[in-house]
Amino acid sequence: MAVQTVASTTNSSSTVDLGPAAALSCRECGHRVPLGPVFACEECFGPLEIAYDFSAYDAEELRKRIEAGPANIWRYAPLLPVPADVADKPNLNPGWTKLVKADNLARELGVTGGLYVKDDSGNPTHSFKDRVVAQALEAARAFGFTTLSCSSTGNLAGAVGAAAARAGFRSCVFIPHDLEQGKVVMAAVYGGELVGIEGNYDDVNRFCSELIGDPAGEGWGFVNVNLRPYYAEGSKTLAYEICEQLGWRLPDQIVVPIASGSQLTKIDKGLQELIKLGLVEDKPYKIFGAQAEGCSPVSTAFKAGHDVVRPQKPNTIAKSLAIGNPADGPYVLDIARRTGGAVEDVTDEQVVDAIKVLARTEGIFAETAGGVTVGVTRKLIENGVLDPSLTTVVLNTGDGLKTLDAVAGTGLTATIRPNLESFREAGLV
Ligand SMILES: Cc1ncc(COP(=O)(O)O)c(C=O)c1O
Ligand SMILES: [Zn+2]
Repeated sequence: MAVQTVASTTNSSSTVDLGPAAALSCRECGHRVPLGPVFACEECFGPLEIAYDFSAYDAEELRKRIEAGPANIWRYAPLLPVPADVADKPNLNPGWTKLVKADNLARELGVTGGLYVKDDSGNPTHSFKDRVVAQALEAARAFGFTTLSCSSTGNLAGAVGAAAARAGFRSCVFIPHDLEQGKVVMAAVYGGELVGIEGNYDDVNRFCSELIGDPAGEGWGFVNVNLRPYYAEGSKTLAYEICEQLGWRLPDQIVVPIASGSQLTKIDKGLQELIKLGLVEDKPYKIFGAQAEGCSPVSTAFKAGHDVVRPQKPNTIAKSLAIGNPADGPYVLDIARRTGGAVEDVTDEQVVDAIKVLARTEGIFAETAGGVTVGVTRKLIENGVLDPSLTTVVLNTGDGLKTLDAVAGTGLTATIRPNLESFREAGLV
């Protein structure tokens, strides 16, 4: 992502109410600035993230407050950059998706320590992106933006379109022109403007960075650019939910898909917060990153032992993960190495196979990103990297209905005349 700082155009940061969010802090040098629509450090150009003041919280009281909260991400409002009355505002109330105990898949993969699928296809626009957009929307409200925008690999465009429609914002979102039909329709149907860019995601992202610096983009909240510090925090809710749904327990291993890498880094941040707040018992956990071979800049760097992620030109059916120059790539490498995890990739063929395995064993129809995580999980077990005797959570972050082409050819078992004779002839009895 191009480094750029944008000054607040509207409200001064001192009037902004984003709950426990105290400031923005640079991930590289720790420099702090007031809350505002900025995303890069003015000292070192490092990425900014939200710093909180959680000092007033008592673990038991906080746990009770969360458990008494709504069945959506706002049960965790005390840990997010949102005002306390966020649940009363028009938004899509995403989250609290199913954590499915996947015993059939566990048998197929040889996992004995408990295998779970966190199924985020159950969100309002059928991907985990509703979580991050909900945070960005609150920041957009706080900073006085009226247009929501983003650069997207598909799912984010739909999540922004829907959230904007519900909240009464204008939306204008940008995607690569050649995305899957399901993603395009899901982004367009909410009535906002949808612009296809002739290029890949990295071209789209570069264009958006230019637009932010131009008068044409003035007053626009780009959820994953100038609102990125707020947006990114939404992925922490995946970590919170997984632990709460496991009975306030950390899993031993989590397998997370990587596009920009933001989600993976914030899942780690969420787990660390729960430990520090005393909501879960501290114990080691491992985070594994999953990519498609045709866009595997982070796994390539991981396997080569590099700290630097070299950009790639994506070529994979897992288009939602097709970011060749991932902004959070180096942080993903740090987390995988620090926790004792790994980053691995699978071929498109393995992605398709994994989609079918998950559907056949658990009745969950994942998009290609889910095929990537399940496929990588299987590969990591086969390679002896992921321990099958430990509690493992695999993320499915999107819905297979949006990437039907991936399983094209799956169809009718037989076509028969409407009589029993014809049914018998088909060899199904
Ligand atoms: C379905 C799905 N899963 C995972 C991701 C990865 O997100 P991140 O960019 O936070 O790594 C994306 C990103 O677009 C996605 O659409
Ligand atoms: Zn800095």
